[in-house]
Amino acid sequence: MSTNRSENSGVASPAFSSRAREFGKAALIALALAAPAAYPVWVTATAEPPRPAHEVLLAGAALPPVAMDDALVGREIFMTTCAACHKVDGTGVPNLGKSLVKSDFLASRDDAAMEAFLTKGRPADDPMNTTRIPMPPYGGRTTMSAGELRGVVAFVRGLQDPRRMPSLPEYVAAPTRDVLAELPKDMDPEEAKYIASGQKLFANSCVSCHGKDAHGMTGLGKSLVTSEFLAKLSDDDALAFIKKGRSTSDPLNTTKVDMPPKGGNPALSDDDILDILSFLRFLAKSEAQGK
Ligand code: HEC
Ligand code: HEC
Repeated sequence: MSTNRSENSGVASPAFSSRAREFGKAALIALALAAPAAYPVWVTATAEPPRPAHEVLLAGAALPPVAMDDALVGREIFMTTCAACHKVDGTGVPNLGKSLVKSDFLASRDDAAMEAFLTKGRPADDPMNTTRIPMPPYGGRTTMSAGELRGVVAFVRGLQDPRRMPSLPEYVAAPTRDVLAELPKDMDPEEAKYIASGQKLFANSCVSCHGKDAHGMTGLGKSLVTSEFLAKLSDDDALAFIKKGRSTSDPLNTTKVDMPPKGGNPALSDDDILDILSFLRFLAKSEAQGK
């Protein structure tokens, strides 16, 4: 990556980082408040509180590994549907979805019960719902085949107990449209490189909420192609925005869904985010030209 990008992006960060810390603090406090309510199972009359089911599971002998086929089908569903709220590693996105890794519900139910749960989800007014955030039926997909249901249950079992996860090939998000083929031949090769890199990064960190080709997903992230907000921001301001996100407590939030800092992927560097912006700006421009 060229150095002038890093110099550019440094400008916005000092003012921003203290705000990020404030955000982190608020998130910690929220978590601390939410924690006791999340484990009503612990409140029993016995002298020794029983160990949570997910700890018992890991302390015991490993169950048989999940089948490779199921894990591969399940991973595709998980990455494209569930990761938006439960995070790619299943540890949960604050204010969106719970940790599936530390889920006693998952640890103490068989596959049939988990499949039944996924078909129904858990509405916010369900007595079992502790977060007052709905878990949509099929995680928001219209439906799932029997094989997909079996696969996604197998995959989350592997996330909860990694001893059961077969060794999977590296995850590559399915390609959407071939944006690179659309780049004008006379485009600055540096810029083309940023766009190519941005497309990959977008597929790994943003697509789960903002959808294919950034057109948005109902109930999750907005369209970034038609976003006037994004169109008006300078690259520096857009970078600062994406690093900070827009929580539901922000008065500018219109969806009542969190935009997590860096889309929930702390590993993204400033250069990575600027590459994503190059990609998004290219999509917006080519769409505006009716391509
Ligand atoms: C739009 C956000 C969202 C999506 C997408 C989503 N979930 Fe959830 N899920 C939630 C929320 C919120 C809860 C917790 C509800 C509550 O408070 O009980 C939850 C709960 C769960 C639970 C129960 C955990 C427990 O300990 O009670 C499982 C299992 C689960 N989800 C699996 C999945 C799978 C698998 C997918 C993908 C097919 C998925 N979810 C997609 C939001 C989501
Ligand atoms: C967990 C879901 C989620 C992920 C992942 C996510 N976003 Fe968002 N994003 C949202 C939501 C929800 C909003 C709208 C918040 C609101 O109501 O204002 C949003 C808003 C935005 C906006 C402002 C759009 C506007 O018109 O107000 C930008 C820009 C943006 N996201 C960029 C990104 C980028 C870039 C990534 C990947 C690095 C990303 N987002 C990942 C959920 C997500």
